[in-house]
Amino acid sequence: MAKATLSFVCQNCGAAYNRWQGKCESCGEWNTLAEEDLTGAASMPASIRSKRRGRAFKLESLTGTSEQAPRLSSGLGELDRVTGGGFVRGSVLLVGGDPGIGKSTLLTQATSLMAREGHRIVYISGEEAVAQVRLRAARLGLADAPVQLAAETSVEDIITTLSEGAVPRLIVIDSIQTMWTDTVESAPGTVTQVRASAQALIRFAKKSGAAIILVGHVTKDGQIAGPRVVEHMVDAVLSFEGEGSQQFRILRAVKNRFGPTDEIGVFEMTGLGLREVSNPSELFLSERDLGSPGTAVFAGMEGTRPVLVELQALVVPTTLGTPRRAVVGWDSSRLSMVLAVLEAHCGVKLSGYDVYFNVAGGLRINEPAADLAAAAALVSSLANAPLPTDAVYFGEISLSGAVRPVAQSSARLKEAAKLGFARAVLPESARGDGGGDAGLTLNTVGGLSSLVADIAARGSPKPGRDNGKSTAPEKNATPARFRRQEG
Ligand code: TYD
Ligand code: MG
Repeated sequence: MAKATLSFVCQNCGAAYNRWQGKCESCGEWNTLAEEDLTGAASMPASIRSKRRGRAFKLESLTGTSEQAPRLSSGLGELDRVTGGGFVRGSVLLVGGDPGIGKSTLLTQATSLMAREGHRIVYISGEEAVAQVRLRAARLGLADAPVQLAAETSVEDIITTLSEGAVPRLIVIDSIQTMWTDTVESAPGTVTQVRASAQALIRFAKKSGAAIILVGHVTKDGQIAGPRVVEHMVDAVLSFEGEGSQQFRILRAVKNRFGPTDEIGVFEMTGLGLREVSNPSELFLSERDLGSPGTAVFAGMEGTRPVLVELQALVVPTTLGTPRRAVVGWDSSRLSMVLAVLEAHCGVKLSGYDVYFNVAGGLRINEPAADLAAAAALVSSLANAPLPTDAVYFGEISLSGAVRPVAQSSARLKEAAKLGFARAVLPESARGDGGGDAGLTLNTVGGLSSLVADIAARGSPKPGRDNGKSTAPEKNATPARFRRQEG
């Protein structure tokens, strides 16, 4: 009898070790190694494996005719936008997100809409009983949709059941962490089980042509727990994000073999399920605090769609030895860079201040084009100078303090005009974009220092910050804290 092979497998990245250790050398995580039994498919003895003769297959030419990847629309425009136009036959998609974010809700809505179109859609819940899934569907007003439901966790049983009858167009597995297969002996939820289950399901998808959606849980640091290994096996990885306290949910493609990875889908969680938000700018600007210092509207792009969002900065004198830098929704090293450029080229001393930075509405911004808006918000907070409420900002800041042009200026301007903004602060060369000004007044800035001087001239000092000393700017004068320190 074969001896059981015990191994210690990192539950984060799937690296295997033959003895326990505190830190995984592969991904650097601590305390993620768990003992797993690798007997079974994954560790089939070499003698058996090598005896299997290969099967001859037909080689094809590049010029042959093949079907266009047929896509199945989900019935939700925002979901289709992220997948690249619908689910591709035989593809496997992983949807990750925090527990309670609304993954099951989203997929219940999508599957119901597709089933109503007459497709065979199967929803397998490994987490909830059939009654719970029905209850949710009833709450969403979708109880009449002909989705085929089951509460099952055995991959073999699922595949056997689904191999009968017409091939389902789409199968939802909610969630992959609850699935288990007989081929490996580890407990459900372990990396080995998750990987083997995903492998079996992916094989089934490719063979049958059914599209499969795997739901995956995410750990606190945003990784899809355990099945990071699964991310490499599937065709697309979508991440469903949002702040628990806010109603917005953003669906983002992390990886997509059949579509773009820079598009986002925006939803709002309501009492009646997820509502699609086709104009996200309106949503992100809906609760804007007009006329308060430290906020700037950034005209950004998410994929092909312009999105206007409010950036908020709070700059307060620090009580700590090392001032605090807290960022939500933006890259913290990008913030450090903008602070360094402000200090080096514009004489804005921020070393004595804590800086808090936030992107409103729970959006995450990755574009360098946000630099200018971020700098404007920071200086506005420091100078206690509200920015004009009818202005949008965009532009990349270089280390030399110059403001560099960014792509798609005209799309950004058009969106700003559509939402009632009257002017845009943007890089000088953006004029040459050819798209026109969309009826906005364009204030071009060549260097960051001119923007800083402009904002500072509007400012009035925050009470109490300067021990009663007034630093109210005289006309065209730079307030004390903006002056370069001599010596
Ligand atoms: P769910 O889809 O179960 O989350 P996940 O599958 O990602 O764990 O969503 C659960 C949350 O959504 C729960 O807090 C209740 C809320 N919700 C609504 O606000 N409205 C609704 O119509 C539904 C179905 C859920
Ligand atoms: Mg769920």
